[in-house]
Amino acid sequence: MTIDNEISGRLALVTGASGGIGAACARDLFAQGASLALTYSSNKTPVDELIEELRPSANGRKLTAHKADMTSDEDLKKLYDDIKSEHGQGPDILIANAGYGKRTSDILDIDIEEWDYTINCNLRASFLLTKLAVAHMIEQNWGRIIYISSIAAGGTSINGCHYSASKAGVQGLSKNLAIKLAKHGITCNDVAPAMITGTGMIPDEEFLKGTPGDVKNIPVGRAGSTQECANVVTMLCKTGYMTGQSILISGGLK
Ligand SMILES: NC(=O)c1ccc[n+]([C@@H]2O[C@H](COP(=O)([O-])OP(=O)(O)OC[C@H]3O[C@@H](n4cnc5c(N)ncnc54)[C@H](OP(=O)(O)O)[C@@H]3O)[C@@H](O)[C@H]2O)c1
Repeated sequence: MTIDNEISGRLALVTGASGGIGAACARDLFAQGASLALTYSSNKTPVDELIEELRPSANGRKLTAHKADMTSDEDLKKLYDDIKSEHGQGPDILIANAGYGKRTSDILDIDIEEWDYTINCNLRASFLLTKLAVAHMIEQNWGRIIYISSIAAGGTSINGCHYSASKAGVQGLSKNLAIKLAKHGITCNDVAPAMITGTGMIPDEEFLKGTPGDVKNIPVGRAGSTQECANVVTMLCKTGYMTGQSILISGGLK
């Protein structure tokens, strides 16, 4: 069997590219030669600016922006229809990165609406995005699916149990699909970051003071960068022998 880990010429869908980790993943995959379909929800400007930044070196590659609310089934279906009509194909690489997490840590403060929204945005959307992506990947016998989960899946979190449950669900989804889809040349993995600054979720280290993510609790003594997350995502895209793995990127934090 031939080994195909080529990213150049592939189409990557990166959800939540208006945010810190998504934008870094998009830049990195673009540098590897991918075309990009990028989503935003409420912040269009960062995606437009990212596309303007990358366009001069695109050499004919398509870069498209798509508004999609991860909690809307209609938006997700439309996203794939629009990608098909603008790129002439479905995504070869899915980076399911868009996510929501409110810093509410006490279960007594988490109402059912907040639970539902968090599960829908982080877990339900990951399922639907994948379901919409796999037909094209199966057809060509090649695909890469990477979910951005969280250290929270294992319990440690500055957010609450709803966020942890949503991210643990994503890890289960990924591990099951890794086994089911391997025969089609599709790998599924998740990257579980912790305390990544330069993001809407965690702007800077100051934001972490007094929480379990305080840098004084992080063995390497600092927060992580969005580029470090992108490094791991790109590595997974280029490593087809790796599937069903959850990679914690946390500076040693457990
Ligand atoms: N930063 C960390 O330390 C950390 C740690 C663990 C896991 N994560 C995960 O990493 C992923 C990226 O987050 P980030 O750290 O880069 O934070 P961020 O900068 O706030 O980015 C979050 C992204 O998700 C999008 N998003 C939020 N709610 C959405 C919705 N309902 N529909 C569609 N898109 C939505 C945002 O879009 P708009 O801004 O356009 O609305 C934005 O692009 C998330 O899944 C998060 O859970 C982050």
